[in-house]
Amino acid sequence: MSKIKENDTIILYDKAKEKKRLINLAVTKGRLSIETGYIELNSLIGMEYGSIVKTQMEYEYIVLPINLVDFIMKKLNRLTQIVYPKDAAYILLKLDVKPGDTVIESGVGSGAMSCVFAQYVGKEGRVISYEIREEFIKNATSNITKMGFGDRITIKHRDIALGFDEKDVDSLFLDVREPWLYIKQAYDALKIGSMLGILVPTTNQIEETLKELNLFSFIDIEVSELLLRKYKPVPGRLRPQDRMGAHTAFMIFARKI
Ligand SMILES: C[S@@+](CC[C@H](N)C(=O)[O-])C[C@H]1O[C@@H](n2cnc3c(N)ncnc32)[C@H](O)[C@@H]1O
Repeated sequence: MSKIKENDTIILYDKAKEKKRLINLAVTKGRLSIETGYIELNSLIGMEYGSIVKTQMEYEYIVLPINLVDFIMKKLNRLTQIVYPKDAAYILLKLDVKPGDTVIESGVGSGAMSCVFAQYVGKEGRVISYEIREEFIKNATSNITKMGFGDRITIKHRDIALGFDEKDVDSLFLDVREPWLYIKQAYDALKIGSMLGILVPTTNQIEETLKELNLFSFIDIEVSELLLRKYKPVPGRLRPQDRMGAHTAFMIFARKI
């Protein structure tokens, strides 16, 4: 079991109501007042995750560690569209991201995909993210710091039209409005045999991107979209949820030769 540390983001889980409250201990300090009473947050430091804490009114919460999906969906401050977990997981596999890899991405946006890459490249790996807008860099840096990945992610304030500094990178991911303008820059930065991933929300963008990809030595070109249907987890009445997210993004993948 691991212990709660000073700057952790934690979950206070209300088992009776099946509700999660996410708290960043680096930001929220002292007495936390909630509808069921108050908790002195300092008293949580050093406690084992999984412990039960009570408000002064004896209302119980289980303290749990946050995971990346909780963070992205509930805590990350979004100033841009983000890559959703269902797409992020497939992107990781298609780009063959491994511990120790160097991954280049653009733009950083809100830092959601940067955190996903950072978790998988691990402590020995690097994520280098190029972003043109300063206000997004500031917000993404704050999100990345809250998730504890500040030491693995470098953000460069740059228009990628000017190219990437790095060469022979293990994989490269573009989540920008006009990715077809930067295929040459991406091709030049990638290692032979490595993968380029691109995310776009509309089919028009796919067409433009494919035309440009065909001008370079790429193989294994794939265009895909993932639909995720969630079920109501009720034994004896197991059925899909009534509502479903219809569209997040299209993904394009290609391997440099
Ligand atoms: C949709 S957001 C990226 C979201 C990000 N993948 C995430 O999961 O949070 C697109 C970002 O690309 C940046 N961008 C667009 N064109 C760019 C360029 N030419 N060079 C660098 N960044 C660019 C935008 O400013 C924006 O922050």
